[in-house]
Amino acid sequence: MSNNWMQERRRDYYYRKAKQLDYRSRASFKLMQIDDRFNIIHPGMTVVDLGAAPGGWLQVAAERVGPKGKVVGVDLQPIAPLEGVQTIKGDIKNEAVREELLTMTNGRVDLVMSDMSPNISGSYSMDHARSIELCEMAMAFALRTLSPGGNMLVKMFEGDLSRDFIDELKKHFANVKRYSPEASRSSSSEIYVVAKGFGKSKKGQDG
Ligand SMILES: C[S@@+](CC[C@H](N)C(=O)[O-])C[C@H]1O[C@@H](n2cnc3c(N)ncnc32)[C@H](O)[C@@H]1O
Repeated sequence: MSNNWMQERRRDYYYRKAKQLDYRSRASFKLMQIDDRFNIIHPGMTVVDLGAAPGGWLQVAAERVGPKGKVVGVDLQPIAPLEGVQTIKGDIKNEAVREELLTMTNGRVDLVMSDMSPNISGSYSMDHARSIELCEMAMAFALRTLSPGGNMLVKMFEGDLSRDFIDELKKHFANVKRYSPEASRSSSSEIYVVAKGFGKSKKGQDG
């Protein structure tokens, strides 16, 4: 069986499953699988989702934080309304947008997650560099807003800048791991980085 054939099958499977269960994107299953493994979303949490359209992660986060939690999403694209979720349309590179997110969360965030993707140029090194730039934006936002012990989840297109980015995360979080959920294995360079325990960094871990 070719790898491409397997990838297509997996994509189709999660696409159909998302439709059946009323999730807005296949990506919902990536977040469920990541959270089932790393336990990063808890009831009552405040979660910020960067690059949230069309809203698949927002749906999962809202279910898992429950009625006492808060979920806020931002994207360049508009996001159709979702119950229990607040969204804004804007660019995370814009300070006014980041300020708005801070106001919406009262400056107390327990989980920052980013599934942001750059526009794909087709050049591997260009796409990787743009992805790392978005990862750095997400990290800067997390460092500014997370409560002590908070968590971060970020998508990264792997490449030669990945190591430095992960090393930087390790300076701020107790536990940093790379993970590829089953629902995401269709894309060769896409990986998720889970960073837990903001402000409780320790030395000597492996990625
Ligand atoms: C893979 S999609 C996110 C899918 C989402 N997690 C879901 O479950 O539906 C990536 C998103 O990142 C957004 N994005 C890319 N750069 C951004 C930026 N600078 N600011 C805000 N959103 C951005 C894109 O507009 C796109 O909608």
